[in-house]
Amino acid sequence: MMAGDSIIARPTPETIARAARLISEGRLVAFPTETVYGLGADATDDRAVAAVFEAKERPRFNPLIVHFADVEAAQGTAVFDERAKRLARRFWPGALTLVLPRSPDCPVSLLACAGLETIAVRVPGHEVALKLLSTVRGPLAAPSANRSGLVSPTTAVHVAEELTGKVALVLDGGPCRIGIESTVLDLTGREPLVLRPGGVPRAAIEAEIGPLARIGAAEAASAPRSPGLALRHYAPSIPLRLEARGGPLRPEEALLAFGANVPAGYAAERNLSAAGDLGEAAANLFAMLRELDRGDFAGIAVMPVPESGLGEAINDRLRRAAGEALAAKGPVSQRGRRSPQRAG
Ligand code: TXA
Ligand code: MG
Repeated sequence: MMAGDSIIARPTPETIARAARLISEGRLVAFPTETVYGLGADATDDRAVAAVFEAKERPRFNPLIVHFADVEAAQGTAVFDERAKRLARRFWPGALTLVLPRSPDCPVSLLACAGLETIAVRVPGHEVALKLLSTVRGPLAAPSANRSGLVSPTTAVHVAEELTGKVALVLDGGPCRIGIESTVLDLTGREPLVLRPGGVPRAAIEAEIGPLARIGAAEAASAPRSPGLALRHYAPSIPLRLEARGGPLRPEEALLAFGANVPAGYAAERNLSAAGDLGEAAANLFAMLRELDRGDFAGIAVMPVPESGLGEAINDRLRRAAGEALAAKGPVSQRGRRSPQRAG
């Protein structure tokens, strides 16, 4: 891992200035956010944005989240209605991404938005990300800094391992506080719609703007509004078995546990949160999936995680990792379907 280590830098005024310079030259820099690490590029530079898709080996049609230093900067690229303004005031900087209409004079690369008339915008809640954004003085297109189809990185070492040779610098902000991606909320339709559950729970958004529409099983399976809803978005290389409750024990499996009543006898075990704390579980999720993703295990058995609060986002990631349809209660034909599309 020596090659990976050499591109990791502690964030200092000097390394942040270097990162900003690299970005202005069209290079890619990974930086910490409160959710997961982002693979950042100058969002107004088509070539740099193309390099992001290349590095991630991500299909072109999957649009990227564009990050800003503050609400005012974001308002230069997207049309904010009253709901958007309200949510931005309440949750930014923070783990909420808003999908809004692009403003007519939006300077952001169309490639970053995959040619859509909409743009996904967010102000991240992390000091290093905000310093970098204000030093660059422009928006950063930044998907999660993993290769497409793999789990999102929550430490600088994860990024360096996966993207060696593709990223010029990784700013090391330590492990991500939230550890799960931002909630993606689409405000461009008739009703607000959560395209991806994430760090800001549904109920917190509903407390601000009222009830949210729920995506139907048919829509999820056939014509997803967010390409990131593709199945097997977050996939380890060995099979994942959900809802393992003790059940028939398979000693060759590793166990991803939750809570205090952990069955014994698995080949390995990680506990998302022995205390049953969903925030702790979210923060541990991707790192633990990586730790258990080893060829010498037959698979990963996952204990049930409650669906409340951050549990919705955790279970969403686990179902995708297991290759199950988003709406687990959809018809069987949809449930077993594996999408060829790999998103990132
Ligand atoms: O927490 C996060 O959101 C992290 C950090 C780095 O900010 N970023 C992240 O980006 O997870 P990415 O690219 O891995 O996921 C972006 C999600 C995808 O599901 C994508 O399809 C959706 O946002 N998205 C982006 N632009 C969109 C748009 N215009 N319309 C609908 N969905 C969009
Ligand atoms: Mg991603």
